[in-house]
Amino acid sequence: MNAVVTGAASGIGRACAVRLARDGADVAVLDIDEAGLAETARQVEAASRRCLPVAVDLLDRSAIASAFERVRSELGRVSVLHNNAGGSQRRDIRTFRRSESDQWDYMLGLNLGQVADCTRCVVEDMIEARFGRIINTSSEMAFRTNFGMTDYSAAKAGLLGFTRSLANELARYQITVNAVCPGVTRTPLAEKAIADRLEETLAGIPVGRIGEPEEIAHAVSFFASPGASYVTGEYLLVTGGRTMH
Ligand SMILES: NC(=O)c1ccc[n+]([C@@H]2O[C@H](COP(=O)([O-])OP(=O)(O)OC[C@H]3O[C@@H](n4cnc5c(N)ncnc54)[C@H](O)[C@@H]3O)[C@@H](O)[C@H]2O)c1
Repeated sequence: MNAVVTGAASGIGRACAVRLARDGADVAVLDIDEAGLAETARQVEAASRRCLPVAVDLLDRSAIASAFERVRSELGRVSVLHNNAGGSQRRDIRTFRRSESDQWDYMLGLNLGQVADCTRCVVEDMIEARFGRIINTSSEMAFRTNFGMTDYSAAKAGLLGFTRSLANELARYQITVNAVCPGVTRTPLAEKAIADRLEETLAGIPVGRIGEPEEIAHAVSFFASPGASYVTGEYLLVTGGRTMH
């Protein structure tokens, strides 16, 4: 099994790359952060699987195509694609009416546009193989609101629409497409973002703590597994109960 994990130089992506390796996959890890990729590769190799780190700016469409060509020639055809890269990081929090369209384009490009570009690069091989697993990292923010993040919410909700519609188109080829929606998860940026309202944040999470990247990886591992063949077009909220109805 060959897997690609994007945004795998840190946080959730790194944990998912390591988990997929433990599940038996050789893993290509794509990210703009070369130093972080080297550490991820070290951890994947410690799980006795091959790792191909590829430094790439996922906002550059032609660089994405070259990155996936490299993966195909050096690792082989991809059977699992985890579109994980994304994020809500920004210089300052601004309401929609005060925000600028550049910020909107960046958020939509990072959290949605490049997912389509990456998916295009693997889908024909998956169709030919009559097997594939595509997993997208959305967010609880597809369902909740956070002041000053209309762009991120729109992108992550759009990603769920993409997940469902693509799942419908690819189901006949035994390719599943699902999404994981993390809640607050322990990554450097997330910890920094909630530092000044930690108590308030924890009070809103029924299990009383933030999630660990490995807990998101567990959900990804399920969607990626051959046994999850009858699950497609779905999402799983991994939020410590924060989004229960
Ligand atoms: N941590 C959370 O609380 C949380 C909650 C919900 C959803 N998410 C989602 O989980 C995913 C992973 O985020 P994380 O929390 O692990 O953050 P992270 O910052 O640790 O990881 C994101 C990775 O994406 C990479 N990246 C950013 N822009 C890139 C670009 N242009 N080209 C290539 N790589 C790029 C970064 O270098 C980084 O390694 C994201 O899609 C994020 O939106 C995170």
